[in-house]
Amino acid sequence: MLNKDQLYMDTIKRIKTLISQESDHIAVMATIVCELHHNIPYFDWTGFYRNNGREELIIGPYQGTLACLRIPFSQGVCGKAARTLKCQIVPDVNKIEDHIACSATTRSEIVLPVYATAGLLGVLDIDSNIENAFDSTDQKYLEEIVQIFK
Ligand code: SME
Repeated sequence: MLNKDQLYMDTIKRIKTLISQESDHIAVMATIVCELHHNIPYFDWTGFYRNNGREELIIGPYQGTLACLRIPFSQGVCGKAARTLKCQIVPDVNKIEDHIACSATTRSEIVLPVYATAGLLGVLDIDSNIENAFDSTDQKYLEEIVQIFK
């Protein structure tokens, strides 16, 4: 039985140690996605999209198969998270119309807005090949992670 709390607590501890002396946003993003992707078994695509300041997201550090490079704020689950500034949990991506499919194997998705002092930095997007993989426990710990940015 998967203990999400333990998985996240261990992973967050490692991430905080690894980036404690680092302020570069790309370096911090790369470290977060690497740690999350390789430690949480139901994460099949893990990455950041960055806000380019023109209502558009551009791909940032990620792990997983090839993803789309740009997403307007008006499209997809990532766009909705950037537009509404609210965490999006999609239990079954096949049941919503506004989902941009980057991989045919993705079944569920969570996207969180990411802030830094200067404003919306982008979004953290995680896809799982398992249906209904994400819940309020994932949201709670991932929100703690995205608060790392300064
Ligand atoms: N599914 C996302 C697009 C990005 S990929 O999942 C990596 C969306 O609907 O915005």
